[in-house]
Amino acid sequence: MRVLVSGGAGYIGSHTVLSLIEAGHDVVVVDDFSNSKPAVIGRLESLAGQHIPVHAFDLADHDKTERLFAAESIDAVVHFAGLKAVGESVAKPLEYYANNIGSTISLVRAMRRHDVRRLVFSSSATVYGEAAPVPYVETYEPLVASSPYGRTKVMNEQVLADVAAAGELHVALLRYFNPVGAHASGTIGEDPQGIPNNLMPFIAQVAVGRRERLSVFGDDYPTADGTCLRDYIHVEDLAAGHVAALEHLGAMAEPVRAFNLGSGHGTSVLELLRAFERAIGRELPYEVVGRRPGDLPAFWADPSRAADELGWRTTRSVDDMCADTWRWQSQNPQGFPDA
Ligand code: UFG
Repeated sequence: MRVLVSGGAGYIGSHTVLSLIEAGHDVVVVDDFSNSKPAVIGRLESLAGQHIPVHAFDLADHDKTERLFAAESIDAVVHFAGLKAVGESVAKPLEYYANNIGSTISLVRAMRRHDVRRLVFSSSATVYGEAAPVPYVETYEPLVASSPYGRTKVMNEQVLADVAAAGELHVALLRYFNPVGAHASGTIGEDPQGIPNNLMPFIAQVAVGRRERLSVFGDDYPTADGTCLRDYIHVEDLAAGHVAALEHLGAMAEPVRAFNLGSGHGTSVLELLRAFERAIGRELPYEVVGRRPGDLPAFWADPSRAADELGWRTTRSVDDMCADTWRWQSQNPQGFPDA
């Protein structure tokens, strides 16, 4: 298939571009580079050994999106593009709704006009909200997120489910747990701008000397060591999940289907820190501080639907995730270069 990857210069998008190419697909990237660096494209082209066509604009621009579909022959879309910082979304809700919902509507309209019917959507475990029992299962309702960012994921899922039900699309909604790690080459990886919000990139920046110490947000949760449990998934496993979902779309019995992409295991903040320390062979400074508002004590995936229907499961361990994150971070202490 010739696959349009929106947000293909981003962290998960870039790894998925490579996995799609390795699986024999052609890829076209659209990305506005608002939260990614153009240098990632050169790295991807080196890894893939081929030119990757890139369109640099914001998908919320209907006219440009229409022109893209008129110019390129596209068979399917993997849609990552969107704003993704939980805290920022509370401060700038309108930007999040306009961008994250607007880009999906613009994209799906252009897909309809050009008879492109296969879509894989980048969703999040955040759609399960605060009341869902663990492990999370795809049949759980109602979906309610607790941040504007999370609500854009819920709303996008609803928009896509309605359009699919009207017979216009086949959609896989991929609910990610906590993506970490990097490509084994160490040449692409997660490159957050500013202070990292997420645990693994923060630990990696402490290890490389960019941050003084890790703040552990609370050790009084009802878990074995008192820190929160998350289901960390290697970004390469996650990328493989997108390829599996894309290739399954044509055979799907229903027009829309959600899949959890996680390992099925919880790892605590301190366990992840210890695993990283093992990977680099030294201890890292940390201090326990107060809880971060909105954090849930523990959640992980029931990944059995993805295993049964997509034939997909995670293959990489927490130790692999740490070793690969470190290879990327130590080879690229400041992330991707600006130019
Ligand atoms: N944590 C720290 N210190 C840090 C950063 C994180 O102790 O500097 C802790 C958090 O408190 C949490 C765990 O590490 O217990 C994981 O935090 P992340 O920010 O890495 O991940 P979250 O599970 O909070 O966030 C993820 C996704 C979001 C999504 C959210 C929904 O990154 O996109 O789940 O719960 F919205």
